[in-house]
Amino acid sequence: FLDVSKLQPQTKMCTYDPGYTSTGSCESTITFIDGGKGILLYRGYPIEQLVESTCDFTDAAYLLLNGELPDGNQHKAFEQELKSHTMVHEKLIEFFKGFKSDAHPMAIMVGVVGALSAFYESKNWRDPAQAQISCVRLIAKVPTLAAIAYRTSVGQPIVYPKNEYSMAQNFLYMMFSSPSEEFKPDPILARAMEVIMILHMDHEQNASTSTVRVAGSSQANPYACIAAGISCLWGPSHGGANEAVLSMLEEIGNVKYITEYIAKVKDPKDPFRLMGFGHRVYKSYDPRAKIMRQITHQVLEHLKVVDPVLDLAMELERIALTDEYFIKRNLYPNVDFYSGICLRAMGIPVSMFTVLFAVSRTVGWCAQWKEMALEKGNRISRPRQIYSGAATRAYVPLDKRA
Ligand code: ACO
Repeated sequence: FLDVSKLQPQTKMCTYDPGYTSTGSCESTITFIDGGKGILLYRGYPIEQLVESTCDFTDAAYLLLNGELPDGNQHKAFEQELKSHTMVHEKLIEFFKGFKSDAHPMAIMVGVVGALSAFYESKNWRDPAQAQISCVRLIAKVPTLAAIAYRTSVGQPIVYPKNEYSMAQNFLYMMFSSPSEEFKPDPILARAMEVIMILHMDHEQNASTSTVRVAGSSQANPYACIAAGISCLWGPSHGGANEAVLSMLEEIGNVKYITEYIAKVKDPKDPFRLMGFGHRVYKSYDPRAKIMRQITHQVLEHLKVVDPVLDLAMELERIALTDEYFIKRNLYPNVDFYSGICLRAMGIPVSMFTVLFAVSRTVGWCAQWKEMALEKGNRISRPRQIYSGAATRAYVPLDKRA
């Protein structure tokens, strides 16, 4: 504890915790992480059990949003509800024409998801029915907006959702179908996509989820809050890492250069970090990374793709995990390390990697926002600071300054 009363007489004491390494910002019943043991639970269910079972996008989204797994009728009704909200207002589609044709799809997402605020208004976001329908709209519409962002960025006509498909199949369909050739999602790739979506859905109070909660604490429109989350996710220290991993692996280029890059990590004058390595909470292997590595092998095998970048990634992991620097700091691959290799093999363009993360994380952001919005006594987030600027001084008129 630092006594800041000398600097700011109106404040008695506050914790000073840059990066919030030891600050709990809320109480939540949604996701549990044991970073030391590498455990991740959604509402108590281990992530491994969810992805190895019949759990689909609808099941996992219902669980995170509502607290329990749905029974058969609830599952059907929720899926139907999501599907009835996959379309976006035609006027919103006009927005896409205003972006530069080579704009990054994440830039477009920040704009168009925030723009949903202009289509849905409420005087009371803390009304449970309003909160629920806003979450359903966001979970259903963000994949459609993401696919449109991609289609417009490559100058192709947009593809409307086909609601006979599951959420994962529909996303692939909207990304890859064309008027001349209808895309039929491959069931193995569609399941891989679904598992990737489930893996990324929630991760307690990470930077983007905290951003959503901070924005929502002022009772802001939930669509604007999710746009704030997308902005935060974009950074290479967070969701943007999956794009950065692939660039890094391509820059390394060959297993023979790995030691050179490991040396760069250790050079105190070099800011280089191994992208896709390290995590604020996991001090052991990220359980999502283990699953992601397995899916990557399955997808490449299914597609008969031989990608030397996968061999390079595996060798980099092997070398790093036996290196003193990484052992001492508990640095292991995180979920982003293998995801790019898998997504690229599935035909997802690199610029869409973080967008896909945002599509999946929208479920968790909505669950976290709803939990906060409906909580009694929720207060606006308002951290303090340690002021280290000038002491009180007299204003100097412009003509008197040296
Ligand atoms: N490569 C090399 N060294 C690293 C790495 C890395 N990827 N990550 C951390 N370190 C080192 C730091 O240099 C530091 O060393 P020091 O004690 O000698 O100064 C030590 O490990 C602790 O690092 P911090 O930056 O304090 O760890 P923090 O918890 O703040 O950061 C983060 C976590 C941002 C994820 C970090 O590990 C990182 O930058 N990783 C690379 C980017 C990445 O993969 N991000 C995705 C995270 S997962 C997600 O968002 C989905």
